[in-house]
Amino acid sequence: MDRVEILNKVPIFAGLDRKHLKRLSNLMVPRSFKAGDAIVHEKDQPAGFFVVASGKVEVVRGAAGGKPQVLATLGPGEFFGEMALFEGQARSATVRAVEDMECLAMTGWDFRAELSTDAEIAMAVLETVVRRLRDVEARLTE
Ligand code: CMP
Repeated sequence: MDRVEILNKVPIFAGLDRKHLKRLSNLMVPRSFKAGDAIVHEKDQPAGFFVVASGKVEVVRGAAGGKPQVLATLGPGEFFGEMALFEGQARSATVRAVEDMECLAMTGWDFRAELSTDAEIAMAVLETVVRRLRDVEARLTE
């Protein structure tokens, strides 16, 4: 699918006009992964930010140990990889393809530059991160 069309369906980019989407799409590289592939590894140093174009991924904490915990499953239009880029820290979890999937990847440098210049995108990313935190908290008190 066309990269602009993919980005057009991504909620955090909902407010962007065609020209902005086009510029953004030029910063993003399509990548494919097979079911079972890890796209980012917990504790690795971060390199990029990812938007799911098709297929599904799961976010797993402790994937390398005996008690892996699935924190979330993310599908088309959702994103991952922002936490380590915000913090300048290692990846908080492993993100693994649960089925063959395609994504668009952006460098950490471009991600930070984009958020610094576009408050609407920054707010949308923040809203999603807060919602994910609430989901984890809700599960803790279940
Ligand atoms: P990062 O820490 O860079 O790499 C792992 C990614 O998994 C993280 O960024 C988030 O994008 C994502 N992630 C971590 N915890 C959760 C969660 N509770 N719900 C959804 N996604 C998460």
